[in-house]
Amino acid sequence: MLKPDQIPAHIGARRASMPINNVTKEGKALKHPAAKAPKIFADTGTIAEIRPLWEAGIINGVTTNPTLMKRAGATSWGMAKEMMQEIVSLMAPHPVSLELTELEADKMIIQAEELASFGDNVVIKVPVGGYEAANPNSDRHTGLKVLHALWQRDIQTNATLIFNTTQALFAAQAGASYVSPFLGRLADYMYKNDQVEMPAGNALYYLEDHKGGKENSRQHNTAYVAASGNRMDAGIRLIHEIAVVFANYDITTEVLAASFRNGVQIPECLLCGADILTIPAPLLMGVADHPLTDDGMKAFIEDSKAFES
Ligand code: G3P
Repeated sequence: MLKPDQIPAHIGARRASMPINNVTKEGKALKHPAAKAPKIFADTGTIAEIRPLWEAGIINGVTTNPTLMKRAGATSWGMAKEMMQEIVSLMAPHPVSLELTELEADKMIIQAEELASFGDNVVIKVPVGGYEAANPNSDRHTGLKVLHALWQRDIQTNATLIFNTTQALFAAQAGASYVSPFLGRLADYMYKNDQVEMPAGNALYYLEDHKGGKENSRQHNTAYVAASGNRMDAGIRLIHEIAVVFANYDITTEVLAASFRNGVQIPECLLCGADILTIPAPLLMGVADHPLTDDGMKAFIEDSKAFES
């Protein structure tokens, strides 16, 4: 658990310089008490989940990905595009991340330009790496190259599948508008694989780099996990580290904490200095409920009956 006194003051200074959240449909900044608060996005492709959160003023953005679009019912890319267009129109002018499905740089740029034409609030989500999974001969820097090309074309981007601070820094240097560290997947992985009798953070290193005798076949950067010696939540540690590094160097790429598993991670990310939290809609719907609020309300309703005529 992160302690508030571990939060460097310059994270606050960086946050104060970030763009204002609350804008009208026309994009005019509104005077609002939480105008500089971290933004809350819904992580979903389902418009029926987005609408009530939007109407309640809880969210000011949406993130999608192919998994979420499939879960929302899309059975073809054409259908997915129609559904994404609807979300983009509902949320305008607030940002909506739409993820590329093409895997080669040239095709990715063409697809990005098509998706960006849906609205000025479109943010193109680009996986930062892993392209070898589709084609072992593919360029390992495909994601960074596309981020850089889209920056040159003035298209907003969200570098996704971020699992270490170096990936986040490289994405920012390529020109990404947002980086999406997946805190939940990292915490899940460590929960399953960390071996308590060994130094914290051993899991990724031993399981991935040393498994099956393929020593150092690929050097993973796991230093950030190893540094969390007390086995604090590795995902929260990652968000904190990126926020501190970006504040150190005045990087305005926004830190978009993603892949939430529970409500506790929300205040922890806010303490860390995350700029945006994208939270699965079902979690977001219920996370501010409290049984004592419900009990208190029952009493108010009951006592109000004394005033009925
Ligand atoms: O925005 C990223 C998010 O959708 C990933 O979440 O739950 O699949 O790890 P999850």
